[in-house]
Amino acid sequence: MNNPRPVLVVGASGYVGSRVVRGLAADGRPVLAASRSAPPEEHDDAVVHVTYRNLTTLPDAVRAACARTGLPLPGAVVASIGGWHKGEPLLAADPDQWSATLASHLTAHLEAARALVPLLEPGDPYVVLNGAASREPMAGAGAICVTGAGLAMLVQVLRLEAGSDRSAGSVAGKPARSVRFHELVVDHAVSGDDRNENPAQTRTPAQVVHALGELLDHADAPTVVHV
Ligand SMILES: NC(=O)c1ccc[n+]([C@@H]2O[C@H](COP(=O)([O-])OP(=O)(O)OC[C@H]3O[C@@H](n4cnc5c(N)ncnc54)[C@H](OP(=O)(O)O)[C@@H]3O)[C@@H](O)[C@H]2O)c1
Repeated sequence: MNNPRPVLVVGASGYVGSRVVRGLAADGRPVLAASRSAPPEEHDDAVVHVTYRNLTTLPDAVRAACARTGLPLPGAVVASIGGWHKGEPLLAADPDQWSATLASHLTAHLEAARALVPLLEPGDPYVVLNGAASREPMAGAGAICVTGAGLAMLVQVLRLEAGSDRSAGSVAGKPARSVRFHELVVDHAVSGDDRNENPAQTRTPAQVVHALGELLDHADAPTVVHV
């Protein structure tokens, strides 16, 4: 019997992550919703919640959830890690805030990829969500702009090192597992998120999920997609 491999969404309690989980499940995809916080009370049969402590323990938590529920291991990862806040200009901001943003918005993505790529098979998609601040300087959101720009480059390097960037060819010592890395840049506020003050434009969660579905389903999808 056909038992499709689930999509693993990391950052499942987040504003975008929670909507991505619901949208992918509504499209009929089995979903593993990974979060460091307790799962929501409302229950959706297509969603298996995976609670974990830190990213190094997430693979074991995923394997345990799959064994418990009879799901195969994930066939795709969506990393919806990061988020948005506005505060002091960079030169005035608390240096600890810079370090915290670097950890949560950039290093966590590398840790997630290190932990989760070994669960995937060659050709499987690994999609990182990013935002407008990665391309546009925004006063008061300097750390998010810089980490977002760094995240865009991280995806490019991971893709190159995985050998899935055919134009650049593979590099010596590339890992055996060549997943395809993609960046989905949501160029506007996602509708309903009050942390965005008077956004000029918004994107609906359905638009984000649709763009994500295209990336997941098409092996020849572009590396970077904007929605
Ligand atoms: N919200 C928007 O309007 C909007 C617009 C455009 C683009 N985006 C993009 O969408 C993505 C998610 O943003 P969001 O607004 O949903 O952010 P959010 O509501 O703040 O959620 C971010 C999630 O990141 C996870 N996270 C943070 N630090 C982590 C760490 N050290 N290790 C593992 N997970 C960590 C948390 O997941 P858990 O607590 O569940 O573990 C958290 O729920 C970002 O790339 C952002 O740029 C958002």
